[in-house]
Amino acid sequence: TWTTESIVDEQVEAIRRQVGSKRAICGLSGGVDSAVAAALVHKAIGTQLTCVYVDHGLMRKGETEQVEKDFVAATGVQLKVVDASERFLSALAGATDPEQKRKIIGREFIRVFEQAQAELVAEAGAAGEDVAFLVQGTLYPDVVESGGGTGAANIKSHHNVGGLPEDLEFELVEPLRQLFKDEVRMVGQELGLPEEIVQRQPFPGPGLGIRIIGEVTRERLDLLREADVIAREELTAAGLDREIWQCPVVLLGDVRSVGVQGDGRTYGHPVVLRPVSSEDAMTADWSRLPYDVLARISTRITNEVSGVNRVALDITSKPPGTIEWE
Ligand code: XMP
Repeated sequence: TWTTESIVDEQVEAIRRQVGSKRAICGLSGGVDSAVAAALVHKAIGTQLTCVYVDHGLMRKGETEQVEKDFVAATGVQLKVVDASERFLSALAGATDPEQKRKIIGREFIRVFEQAQAELVAEAGAAGEDVAFLVQGTLYPDVVESGGGTGAANIKSHHNVGGLPEDLEFELVEPLRQLFKDEVRMVGQELGLPEEIVQRQPFPGPGLGIRIIGEVTRERLDLLREADVIAREELTAAGLDREIWQCPVVLLGDVRSVGVQGDGRTYGHPVVLRPVSSEDAMTADWSRLPYDVLARISTRITNEVSGVNRVALDITSKPPGTIEWE
């Protein structure tokens, strides 16, 4: 008979006991779990916590601002933002294979995060303080499956910090270890986090990097971001957010299709809508979205995103298709 309030109180107590007067670091991914973990730890130890957000430039429109502005405004947490988008783009140049992209993004992510971490440890050290803890948003299902997450945001099994003294290890703080996703959302709500963060649908760590088929370029990212935000706006306006597990929008970067607009012929990229319903992402079915919602998304994308002249709908279940295209 847990109430959300009692979970919060209990965890705040436990975190205070664990961390004492030392300092902690938490990486924010933009997702629900790390946000709630950070908010909980911040409630417990306040300014002893510093959060790090690596902006890899592969987020959707508005998501980085959500972390930088809304999350900080809601919690008052100290946040270090590292803008590494140039670095990720150059590292991704020429990469087209999905697993290669994941590897590159994961590798760069760890490097940038560790560097930021090392800087924070050094700064604290200069001030005579000891950073001894790393906060992780590990959930109960992650514990059970041991290694639930994959990709760039997964730094879960990563305790040892490169570039620092060999013997320096962080002790983990994992306040969500006993919770399921819906409980985590309730805790987030209790802590006053913005709705857009607490109710956020799953989004892969490698971000839009694996939603562009072909090479990831700045231009393609911009196109996809515009198309994606239109789809999200219309799905939200239609009240479908809770019904849909997630709806990737995929840019076929290496495909061009002929179209006609006004008096002119266009030669642009198609995007694919991939709305799915699912319980746990292990299996999924394609969502039977109302035709009028699909029509609005299609009309708006082709009108408002110059460079995209065709919208396709993915009607494949999982299996055999995965949710993402890469
Ligand atoms: P698939 O495409 O395998 O996706 O059906 C299942 C769920 O996992 C997400 N996904 C990822 N998450 N890093 C992540 O953190 C990844 O590399 C990755 N690939 C897929 C996907 O969005 C879906 O929720």
